[in-house]
Formats: sequence, structure tokens, C-alpha cells
Amino acid sequence: MQVSIRPVTDDDLAAFFAFQADPASVAMAGVPARAREAFDAHWAKIRADAQTVLRTVVADGEIVGNVVCFPRDGHQELGYWLGQEFWGRGIATRAVRAFLADYDRRPLHAIVSPANAASLRILLGCGFVEVGRDDEVVSLELA
Ligand SMILES: CC(C)(COP(=O)(O)OP(=O)(O)OC[C@H]1O[C@@H](n2cnc3c(N)ncnc32)[C@H](O)[C@@H]1OP(=O)(O)O)[C@@H](O)C(=O)NCCC(=O)NCCS
Repeated sequence: MQVSIRPVTDDDLAAFFAFQADPASVAMAGVPARAREAFDAHWAKIRADAQTVLRTVVADGEIVGNVVCFPRDGHQELGYWLGQEFWGRGIATRAVRAFLADYDRRPLHAIVSPANAASLRILLGCGFVEVGRDDEVVSLELA
């Protein structure tokens, strides 16, 4: 399977909306879904932000998710989201590695639900280290 990342275009947003609205994904990420209007407003805002980097993940020519990096609490924070139908095939691992090879700003931060084993494996495999934990969230950093 060919996995690549590229800048986000208008045509990607319908797929991203569906991915973020999926209840299983919401439960896994611990991030609430946005209704269409709020989703459109959020993406318009982050696409206009010079500090935010947004990439579409493409696998065998199909839009399968996104990788994002954005400022929060004085850090650059990494996030990613794939459509449920594309989970479990190593796509996110490859997409995050491609992003990190391309984007050299460090340190990067990430926050993950303690139950999100796949996401934790991705980050630890990419060299992130745990820097904090409570019942709700694990905080990680890539120096
Ligand atoms: C988390 C997410 C990105 C994982 O994507 P994916 O393409 O399925 O991940 P991969 O196939 O690359 O798997 C990554 C690792 O997790 C493991 N893994 C995958 N699913 C798993 C699961 N349910 N439980 C435990 N481990 C799992 C894989 O075996 C792999 O480990 P390895 O590197 O040792 O082989 C995807 O499920 C998703 O988008 N979820 C909804 C949004 C989300 O949670 N985003 C992250 C917020 S921090």
C-alpha cells in the first residue's frame, strides 16, 4: 500500500467531517465530534493560521485521514485522525513518520487518552517520551 501526505484541499473536508463524526473514533480519541457548521468554522480557522500545519493522508489514492500540528499552551501539538475503515493497517504509523521527517520543529507535544493504545504505540515508536499522566490524559514530548 502506498501512503503519503500532502497539503489539505477543500475537497478533503467532507471526508474529514465524516471521520471526526464517527462515534468509535470520538470514543477512542476522547475528542467530541463537531456539527457541520462548527466543523467548517474550525477548519476555516486552522487553515488560515500560519502556525498550524495540516496534511491529508492518502493511501492508494484514497483520502484516509489527516495529520495536524498546531499551537496549544505554548507548544506545537501533534494530532492525527484516520477513518475507522482504514485502522489497523499501519497507515497512521507511516503517515506520522512521513510528517515528522518533513516537519523539523521541536519539541513537539502530544496528548492521548490513556486507553488509546494504538496512538500511544505510534508516538512512543516515533521517539516521543511520556512527560505526564493523569486519569484523563497522557502527555508526551518529542525533543
Ligand atoms: C489512533 C489511530 C490514528 C491509529 O491508526 P492506525 O492506522 O490503526 O494505527 P497503526 O495501524 O499504525 O497501528 C499503530 C500501532 O498500534 C497498534 N494497534 C492498532 N490498533 C490497536 C488497538 N486497538 N489496541 C492496541 N494496539 C493497537 C498496532 O499494532 C501498531 O503497533 P506496532 O507499531 O507495534 O505494530 C486511529 O485509530 C484513529 O484515527 N483513531 C481515532 C482518532 C484518534 O484516536 N487519534 C489520535 C488522538 S491522540
